[in-house]
Amino acid sequence: MKFSAQLLALLPPLAVASPVNLTRAGLHKLFVRQDVQTAINASLPNVTIFATGGTIASQGTSNTQTTGYSVGLGVQQLVDAVPELLNISNIAGYQISNVGSGSINETISLKLAKMINEELAKDTVSGVVVTHGTDTLEETAFFLESTVNSTKPVILVGAMRPATALSADGPLNLYQAVTLAGSPAGRDRGTMIVLNDRIGSAFYTTKNNANTLDTFFSTEAGQLGVFINQVPFFFFAPSEPVGRVVFDVTNVTDLAQVDIVYSHQDMDPALFNASYSSGAKGIVFAGVGAGGMSDKASLAAEELYNATGIPIVASHRSTDGFVPDGGDFTIASGFYNPQKARIVLQLGLTAGWGEDKIKEAFAKSYPKP
Ligand SMILES: *[C@@H]1O[C@H](CO)[C@@H](O)[C@H](O)[C@H]1NC(C)=O
Ligand SMILES: *[C@@H]1O[C@H](CO)[C@@H](O)[C@H](O)[C@H]1NC(C)=O
Ligand SMILES: *[C@@H]1O[C@H](CO)[C@@H](O)[C@H](O)[C@H]1NC(C)=O
Ligand SMILES: *[C@@H]1O[C@H](CO)[C@@H](O)[C@H](O)[C@H]1NC(C)=O
Ligand SMILES: *[C@@H]1O[C@H](CO)[C@@H](O)[C@H](O)[C@H]1NC(C)=O
Ligand SMILES: *[C@@H]1O[C@H](CO)[C@@H](O)[C@H](O)[C@H]1NC(C)=O
Ligand SMILES: *[C@@H]1O[C@H](CO)[C@@H](O)[C@H](O)[C@H]1NC(C)=O
Ligand SMILES: *[C@@H]1O[C@H](CO)[C@@H](O)[C@H](O)[C@H]1NC(C)=O
Ligand SMILES: *[C@@H]1O[C@H](CO)[C@@H](O)[C@H](O)[C@H]1NC(C)=O
Repeated sequence: MKFSAQLLALLPPLAVASPVNLTRAGLHKLFVRQDVQTAINASLPNVTIFATGGTIASQGTSNTQTTGYSVGLGVQQLVDAVPELLNISNIAGYQISNVGSGSINETISLKLAKMINEELAKDTVSGVVVTHGTDTLEETAFFLESTVNSTKPVILVGAMRPATALSADGPLNLYQAVTLAGSPAGRDRGTMIVLNDRIGSAFYTTKNNANTLDTFFSTEAGQLGVFINQVPFFFFAPSEPVGRVVFDVTNVTDLAQVDIVYSHQDMDPALFNASYSSGAKGIVFAGVGAGGMSDKASLAAEELYNATGIPIVASHRSTDGFVPDGGDFTIASGFYNPQKARIVLQLGLTAGWGEDKIKEAFAKSYPKP
């Protein structure tokens, strides 16, 4: 996907987020304009791409620029840049947003979950791909892991280098993602993340490095598979993560506010109350070690909990690890990192679950001592 200045000038105007039709009662059908439909070859799998923006859809001003570039390419341009896709699939494409992934919000993630459930319910659709910025890709992937109820593959893909860069990684990542979405090998494995030749489980995979190509992996749970000459190879037979909880968001229009508070030496105990006062219905803290914080902060959190009953989830600020049940006022996050624990708590609260049920949902994902 190399764009010369002349070619860039010829590209069509950028696709913009399509209006969502929310006029139907119950909001359980979304109408979003379809932006791409390639010619149908009935013997090829049908794969639907939902484009949200990110580096994979970004352009720099030169082919050596790999920071400070801007989002702008639409789903049609992503597909046009990889004509090889048409030899392996029929592509339908929707532009859901065109933003850096730091700006993905609940409007976008709920729209994605609803549209993907509808798309995968069609007999003719083999799987879906979501193109996404890498910074919060793991959050959308985990959100979809928790809200899409299908045996078909859901593949999140991004790039670490903009489309204009020398050796841009987006085109091959996209080709691999579409290959996997169209492959029977991708079934019964939940939502997956594809970048840099690796296939990871959305449940465990995280972004480990802010800059390098080799950034998405899961240290403890490992990878599900790899691509060998663009053919997906899985190390194990299909399975789903232990403790995965699936929520039905068909009728959900917004999610409960959950904030993340970061633990560190001399942390400000007032942050818990500040979060509550600003509307949080739940708080996750990125604890030191296995869900710890200072005595002062812990006292403030317990006071808030005693006064309001707000659920407070103890997670860990270390990239890897596990928070066991401490038998105190907090809910242990187990293996969920703070940003994933936040999604579980949001979905639980949005579903109207009480503290016990939320605690149980977290506890399903880790072993009791
Ligand atoms: C929304 O859906 C209704 C009912 O199907 C339709 O009449 C209307 O034209 C749609 N509006 C938009 C903006 O697509
Ligand atoms: C969503 O709303 C529709 C229409 O009101 C209803 O039939 C359906 O049961 C609801 N689904 C869920 C999961 O609440
Ligand atoms: C349709 O796809 C099949 C399988 O890849 C291929 O053999 C065939 O040539 C394609 N047909 C057309 C018209 O491209
Ligand atoms: C793809 O869609 C076309 C048209 O709807 C359909 O004829 C074909 O069977 C589908 N391909 C697969 C592999 O399901
Ligand atoms: C598609 O496949 C055909 C037949 O193998 C090949 O000739 C052609 O170059 C391929 N096109 C692309 C864009 O890969
Ligand atoms: C989420 O972001 C989209 C795209 O920028 C925007 O249209 C929408 O209003 C935002 N939603 C919320 C709740 O802020
Ligand atoms: C998921 O789908 C299965 C089978 O269709 C159904 O039994 C189950 O209730 C669904 N779960 C959710 C959360 O929608
Ligand atoms: C919170 O309530 C529990 C149970 O009543 C009590 O044991 C504990 O001392 C209280 N903590 C604070 C900080 O007030
Ligand atoms: C935090 O808010 C709770 C409930 O409103 C209150 O009981 C507590 O004293 C507050 N803590 C601090 C440190 O202000």
